Amino acid sequence: MLRIDNLVKSFGGEKSRGKKKTASSAAVFAVNNVSFEVKEGELFTLLGPSGCGKTTTLRSIAGLEKPDSGTISVGDRVMFSSTGRGRTVNMPANKRGLGMVFQSYAIWPHMTVFDNVAFPLQVRERSDRPSKKVIAEKVERVLATMQLSEQSGRQATKLSGGQQQRLALARALVIEPPLLLLDEPLSNLDAKLRESLRYELKRLQRELGITSVYVTHDQVEALALSTQIAVMERGGVVQLGKPRDIYEQPANKFVAEFIGTSNFIPGTVASQRAGRHCVETSNGILYLESASQLPVGSEVVVSIRPEAVELSTTARGEQVANEWQGTVVTRAFLGDAVDHVVAVGEHEVRARVNPSVSIESGTSVYLQLDPSKISLVPVN
Ligand SMILES: Nc1ncnc2c1ncn2[C@@H]1O[C@H](COP(=O)(O)OP(=O)(O)OP(=O)(O)O)[C@@H](O)[C@H]1O
Ligand SMILES: [Mg+2]
Repeated sequence: MLRIDNLVKSFGGEKSRGKKKTASSAAVFAVNNVSFEVKEGELFTLLGPSGCGKTTTLRSIAGLEKPDSGTISVGDRVMFSSTGRGRTVNMPANKRGLGMVFQSYAIWPHMTVFDNVAFPLQVRERSDRPSKKVIAEKVERVLATMQLSEQSGRQATKLSGGQQQRLALARALVIEPPLLLLDEPLSNLDAKLRESLRYELKRLQRELGITSVYVTHDQVEALALSTQIAVMERGGVVQLGKPRDIYEQPANKFVAEFIGTSNFIPGTVASQRAGRHCVETSNGILYLESASQLPVGSEVVVSIRPEAVELSTTARGEQVANEWQGTVVTRAFLGDAVDHVVAVGEHEVRARVNPSVSIESGTSVYLQLDPSKISLVPVN
């Protein structure tokens, strides 16, 4: 559906040749050789920290930035294509017909809710413009989907923040775009509203089957919404996969840390057979299952999610593959879980357990580590 190949976009820098480059004129590669494919009906998320190039990628797809080189196509329509020299295809933004929703919901304040949604259809060229009746039908249908029917005649500025954001979405959806581009559309809202709109967005995206590219720096949002995630760092895609794969099998330490708190313990592969690894750490041997077949002697970091650590005050011994002894340092009640920090040898291990388990600091405990829930992160 959407295909991006080797997209490069730099800002600044010296364009004319022959001139001496100074430090201040060095180009910033906001997007550096990014490629990905979004299939029909997917919600594809670009996730990464501030400044990693998410917005620039999205604006390039929209036609609001002109990339240095690369190819962007939607279906069989080439929107942009350039090798950096020679002929360039660059379809203007208004010819691309894509839906866009940005962080600052640019609704038209002097118009009613209805008119805001009708406007993109009304301004079409005569040959392409639906009849008044059809426009009204389309607008009403979209407003109903966004649960804004009751507010149809109201001035757009007299809506709550959440309603305004739904209106921005309605306006993007009314043109029935083949591709919807969303740049942090929920970030201006308070936490509660953000969560409820997140689920609404997911329901809507599923029901309407709209192919979307979603930009966020919020990992929870990305995990909850996406069918595929591309994790970006400094202009490049560092990992591409389903939310669960990215969470459970982070490609490197940056991804593991960015996606959520994790315990990282360095070690060396002591043996490996058919995906079953035995890693030697300063706290003792760890058994784990991993698809990465790393040779004996490889330096690795073992990543264990806090919720994959079990705690007990008595040893389970032979019943479990991995058991370490430690001492509780602190604990924190989080409502749906209790976080414990446990000192094990020279490391501190975070365990997030069921709220029925709450162990006082200073208590000697046993940690059980499920081999199937430990991942190996290559040291790079
Ligand atoms: N118009 C511009 N001129 C110069 N540099 C720019 C411009 N737009 C973006 N950049 C730079 O390109 C890099 C990527 O910016 P971009 O806006 O794509 O990041 P982002 O991932 O969307 O970040 P955020 O999460 O903060 O929105 C940054 O280093 C930024 O400073
Ligand atoms: Mg941005």
